[in-house]
Amino acid sequence: MYSEKVMDHFMHPRNVGEIKDADGIGEVGNPVCGDLMTFYIKVEDNRIKDVKFKTFGCGAAIAVSSMVSEMAKGKTLEEAIKITNKMVADKLSGLPPNKMHCSNLGADALHKAIENYLEKKRSKNGRKK
Ligand code: FES
Repeated sequence: MYSEKVMDHFMHPRNVGEIKDADGIGEVGNPVCGDLMTFYIKVEDNRIKDVKFKTFGCGAAIAVSSMVSEMAKGKTLEEAIKITNKMVADKLSGLPPNKMHCSNLGADALHKAIENYLEKKRSKNGRKK
C-alpha cells in the first residue's frame, strides 16, 4: 500500500536531527493523531543551506519529513515557500488516502521554520533602526 519511495524514505530518512544554532524553527502537530514534526533551517544568502527535522509520528509522516528536507535543501526561501503538501505527496509517488493528513504536516512545518527565520530577521533589523 505504500510506494517504494515512501518505504525508502521511511527506512532511511534523510536529514534527521536538530540544528542547535538554527536560524529558523517550525513546529506543527496533528491534534487528531498527536504526531509532531519540527523543522530546523540554516539560511545563508537567502538560501536554505541546511535543514534537519525531528518527527514523532507515523511512517508516512517520517517519509514526508525526509522528502521535504531533501526538496528544501539548497533552495532559495522564495522557492522553498512554494513547496506544497501536494508536491511532497506526488514526489513520494502518492500516499494512501487515509495517510494524506500526514503529508499535510511536512510543508507546513517547513513554511513555519521559514516564517520564524523571517520574523527574527525583521525584529533584528527593527532594533538596528
Ligand atoms: Fe498522524 Fe501520520 S498518523 S501524521
